[in-house]
Amino acid sequence: MQTQGTQAAARAAAIIEELKGLEGPLLPILHGIQEAFGHVPAETLPVIAEALNISKAEVHGVVTFYHDYRKQPAGRHVLKLCQAEACQAMGSDAIAAKMKQLLGIGFHETAKDGSVTLEPVYCLGLCACAPSAMLDGEVIGRLDDEALEAIVAEVRA
Ligand code: FES
Repeated sequence: MQTQGTQAAARAAAIIEELKGLEGPLLPILHGIQEAFGHVPAETLPVIAEALNISKAEVHGVVTFYHDYRKQPAGRHVLKLCQAEACQAMGSDAIAAKMKQLLGIGFHETAKDGSVTLEPVYCLGLCACAPSAMLDGEVIGRLDDEALEAIVAEVRA
């Protein structure tokens, strides 16, 4: 019987096989694995390293460097708060501080009940409606206290 770890490694191997011919294949492979699993499971790192003939430390370094790669599964909802310039000019720092306080978590963290993962994002193309956010792929503009409370109610529902 296959353990969960070996199943993950086998699924990862199929993704790697498909993408390893690309030039600079590491990032697309990590992206493909995150898409398939929702995060980059630790047990897939040695499989990637071996296939690309690089060290596990190198793969681990890249996963750690790019915050977009999650090492743990995300919560049921993913909330991204824009922290780029136009949103900053419209108070995104205060919005982020308030949201962290409401959810009791920081960026790159998931609420203990698994309801939501909070992440920063750098421009959602919604600068005219700054400060902006994205909840489960849907953009939300003109964030204010009321909008934040509505988001919190939604993710906890
Ligand atoms: S800077 Fe936030 S949406 Fe563009």
